[in-house]
Amino acid sequence: MAKSILITGGAGFIGSHVVKFFIKNQPSVNIVNLDKLTYAGNLQNLVEVENNKNYTFVKGDICDENLVENLFEKYNFDSVIHLAAESHVDRSILNPMEFITTNVVGTVTLLNVAKKFWSDFSDKLFYHISTDEVYGSLENETDFFTETTSYDPRSPYSAAKASSDHFVRAYHNTFGLPVVISNCSNNYGPNQFPEKLIPLAINNIKKNNPIPVYGKGENIRDWLFVVDHARAIFDIFHKGVVGQTYNIGGDNEWKNIDLIKLLCKIMDEKLNRPKNTSEKLITFVTDRAGHDMRYAIDSSKLKSELNWKPSVYFEEGLEKTVDWYLNNEPWLENIVNGNYKNYYQDLYKNR
Ligand code: NAD
Ligand code: TYD
Repeated sequence: MAKSILITGGAGFIGSHVVKFFIKNQPSVNIVNLDKLTYAGNLQNLVEVENNKNYTFVKGDICDENLVENLFEKYNFDSVIHLAAESHVDRSILNPMEFITTNVVGTVTLLNVAKKFWSDFSDKLFYHISTDEVYGSLENETDFFTETTSYDPRSPYSAAKASSDHFVRAYHNTFGLPVVISNCSNNYGPNQFPEKLIPLAINNIKKNNPIPVYGKGENIRDWLFVVDHARAIFDIFHKGVVGQTYNIGGDNEWKNIDLIKLLCKIMDEKLNRPKNTSEKLITFVTDRAGHDMRYAIDSSKLKSELNWKPSVYFEEGLEKTVDWYLNNEPWLENIVNGNYKNYYQDLYKNR
């Protein structure tokens, strides 16, 4: 049973749900959350656990080897759950280098320190959180990504994540480091930074601003409620087999345009607007460069071996998500009133 866990990127969207899930479901464990607090990190995501005696926040960079070594020394980690990353495809098109630094160099820095400090690998685990985007883009609607699908990353983001996955496996094969990897589909839910499709659309609908839909809106994503992802990570952390990879997905594929129309319907109801008001905000804009057509995950291995399955229906999860954003206006306004404004104007000005 793990006693001391280093969670990286715990102030971000998924990381904050993972931290809260572990504290709730395994209160005796010590958790240290190492996060650089980039634009995407937000301590507001963690207020409900910040005073927990088994929880410590450290502001810092996973690329800072001295810092990571000091933390290993001080807290004697037996496990790492590694989520810290640059995570947004559009930003990776604007600035690939930051993605290589954090996602590749940062991951290898953590692997090196774990290898150095864990002279004895028994009861240790390096759990690397990754994405289905490493598998590339599906064209045929009957195809799904399985754990043995060849890697074919097509954006700087997915290329950097794929590279980090390869390093994690290489450290297992070469040095025997005990690792596990999971690759998940698109997450949605409370606390997601509003550069991503669903919270961006919620914010724009609320403010009666155009909803930018890339290309024809025909790209397909599989969506999973973030707490279901946190639960999968908890299950894999405890029951996953060292050296293995697990795909995590929602069995929930949506064309972007259909998803946005459903969101518009929910928002009209929540905001007491006449039917079809928000749909009028849909605006087709220039497509993302190299836009992957379809992601679809086969998570039957995780279901059959570890008895996990998604628990939140999409309509229910989307409604919960909308409610959260409408009830947490200060959280959203703090973000959209800051640097986000410049990012948004820059990214969308030529579309
Ligand atoms: P996010 O962008 O919301 O959060 C990333 C967090 O990492 C932030 O708190 C940020 O401050 C921190 N961070 C970034 N660079 C850092 C550095 N150099 N050192 C320390 N901390 C740093 O991302 P997310 O959506 O929560 O994704 C978390 C992980 O899950 C990522 O590894 C991502 O690739 C993976 N993932 C995300 C999705 C998704 O739909 N969002 C799906 C599958 C996998
Ligand atoms: P995103 O949330 O950025 O996740 P990812 O690119 O990692 O799948 O985008 C989800 C889908 O929505 C993707 O097909 C791109 C599309 N999209 C838009 O159409 N408009 C937008 O403004 C954004 C941010 C995304």
